Amino acid sequence: MSEAKTNETVHLTIDGREVDAPKGAMILDVARGMGIDVPSLCAHPGLEPFGACRLCVVEIQKPGWDDWYKQLVTSCLYPVEEGLKVWTDSDEVRQNRSVVLDLQMARVPESDYIRELGRQYGVEKTSYAERDTKDTCIMCTICVRACEAIGRSAIATLSRGPDKYVDVPNKDACIGCLVCASLCPTDAIPFTANDNGKRRIWDKEFDLVTDERTGEVLGTPEYLAHVQKRAEGNGLVWPETLKQESAKVKRYEYARKLSRVADVEDRLADEAK
Ligand code: SF4
Ligand code: FES
Repeated sequence: MSEAKTNETVHLTIDGREVDAPKGAMILDVARGMGIDVPSLCAHPGLEPFGACRLCVVEIQKPGWDDWYKQLVTSCLYPVEEGLKVWTDSDEVRQNRSVVLDLQMARVPESDYIRELGRQYGVEKTSYAERDTKDTCIMCTICVRACEAIGRSAIATLSRGPDKYVDVPNKDACIGCLVCASLCPTDAIPFTANDNGKRRIWDKEFDLVTDERTGEVLGTPEYLAHVQKRAEGNGLVWPETLKQESAKVKRYEYARKLSRVADVEDRLADEAK
């Protein structure tokens, strides 16, 4: 979570617009707060920044630098500074994003989401050798970090280099909360949320508990037990905590929408109609 650590503010310029922002806030969050659309893949407003995808790059210039000199930085990890100038959509920025997307298109050739983003940056087809796979995981690790925050740290990255992948090494640890699948930017985690009273994810099948009065699905027994245990451990009241937890998962899902390029989602949704 990239939150400001103090009440101090700094004055800076983003795309020619002046703004006062909390000291310690990240460029990405400040730009988005101004309504500027900076694309990202591994950032999520509810999670600590990770800096893996480099799609959020922007150009910066600090006071005192020569006029011609600018630097590219990852905006999700770069805090705002007094007098900073930022460009979020310069030729240099677009060129760098197109390289990132060119590589991602080779990694996950079946991902509509990455393909559509690539198109926005002029990459119709990857210039690298495509992987022969239907897997659409881009190794952003949002699922791993979200599982740590909401679930039971069941998901891990395994292997190394280009063979790296995410999985649930200990199936018992997964509680079927679905937070990983619902936040995955490329829908790489297959699941069924409610198929005749059963839920399936990570090759595991779960029962579902429903609210007797409303018929609303409350979650899997494992998820409810997890929330209850955490509530009791924190001296909180059960079952009120369940409502708070459900709201938290919903907030995470909502935040995911904010963190994605809305355009792409809308277009893909239109195409699916
Ligand atoms: S499965 Fe999805 S959320 Fe997890 S690392 Fe891959 S792309 Fe990211
Ligand atoms: S590196 Fe910033 S969003 Fe991925």
